[in-house]
Amino acid sequence: PRSARPEAGGDVSVGGVSLTEAADRFGTPVYVLDEQEVRERCRTYRAAFPQADVVYAAKAFLCRAMAHWVREEGLGLDVCSAGELALAVTTGFPPGKIVLHGNAKSPDDLRTALRLGVGVIVVDSASEIARLAAITPADARQQVMVRVVPGIAAGGHAKVRTGTDDQKFGLSIPDGSAQHAVARILDQPHLELVGLHCHIGSQIGSVKPYVAAVRRLIGLLARVRDQHGVVLPRLNIGGGHAIPYRPGEPSLDVGALADRVRAELADGCARARLPVPRLMLEPGRAIAGPAGVAVYHVLAVKRTGEHTFVAVDGGMSDNPRPALYGVRYAPRLIGRRSSAPPRTVTVVGRHCEAGDVLADEVELPGDVRPGDLLAVPAAGAYHLSMASGYNMVGRPPVVAVSGGIARVLVRRESLDDMSRRDVGL
Ligand code: LLP
Repeated sequence: PRSARPEAGGDVSVGGVSLTEAADRFGTPVYVLDEQEVRERCRTYRAAFPQADVVYAAKAFLCRAMAHWVREEGLGLDVCSAGELALAVTTGFPPGKIVLHGNAKSPDDLRTALRLGVGVIVVDSASEIARLAAITPADARQQVMVRVVPGIAAGGHAKVRTGTDDQKFGLSIPDGSAQHAVARILDQPHLELVGLHCHIGSQIGSVKPYVAAVRRLIGLLARVRDQHGVVLPRLNIGGGHAIPYRPGEPSLDVGALADRVRAELADGCARARLPVPRLMLEPGRAIAGPAGVAVYHVLAVKRTGEHTFVAVDGGMSDNPRPALYGVRYAPRLIGRRSSAPPRTVTVVGRHCEAGDVLADEVELPGDVRPGDLLAVPAAGAYHLSMASGYNMVGRPPVVAVSGGIARVLVRRESLDDMSRRDVGL
């Protein structure tokens, strides 16, 4: 996080709290989340997009406190299940500021969304339109958007590229399925089509694909106007803004994104003789990711002929991202000073497979040893939210730090939590 500063003794503080003390007090592995950093990131978006609806993508990381913070900072919420939705609403999050996503929404997802009154449901398939229309109460008019595939390849990894045709998300323009969905929704008296949506991918470092997506969507808005005489008032350009995982890696420039998207909207809409739609965007990672740091204890150091393996007390159950996407992290030694020359090591987890690698070929002080603490930056997004129950080690807690005070937001998953669901013979 931004507030991390090396201190004497190799300690690092986040939000005025020493990570060493946090590790002592809360145990490891632990996620430490800098509340001010989350809030400032929300403010950066609000400032860059004062006229837009900025909704935080809860899939990156959600807990009650997080929902509270983003609401206080004036953001809405993007959820993709009845679970995320229900948790957010328990904090008093206004349902009207919530957007529901999903390529395969369950009957429960849709029913919960209607019951709680979510602001917008983003429709992702023709069959969903029929299912939604069938359960929308006769006295209701649910606002919906259509998720459109703009035919753009962008994103840090093939598994998170969602803007191209021929993948599971959204409705394509070339085969007419997006236009068909628009027509079907316009036929439904209890659904109100308020706009188009696209989410082209994740960990995107350049504004260009967003500009291209806006251009394509304006083209579709113009076609909808021409074919149906309907001017859709909103345009949602999704999330996907890149953050650095290692020093020196780029992040997406939010100010440049705002300028370029605004310019493209103004020009494109003027050309198409359309009013400029109200913009919506859905950053997840860029709000939560840099605000979190994961702290582990080293449990074993093993030197084979070629490698030095540094094994920590977590791994792929709390961070599957290296295994899934080959993401490279930069763990660092904290809590003690070392003058030992650096050594190239592989930081591995405690799980029962050789692919349980947290950081391959990274430099750590050559005297790294059991009992040391390692901090892994940029752990605020898609870590806990993607954590699993593998090997029943229990998911780590989340500790918020702010103004020198640390408090638990989500407690560690206990053996009791895990065994309670197992009803026995
Ligand atoms: N909106 C929609 C419709 C999305 O599907 C997503 C992410 C977002 C917004 C937020 O994207 P972000 O700003 O966080 O990139 N597990 C992967 C990332 C998957 C992203 C899925 N959708 C990872 O760990 O990198």
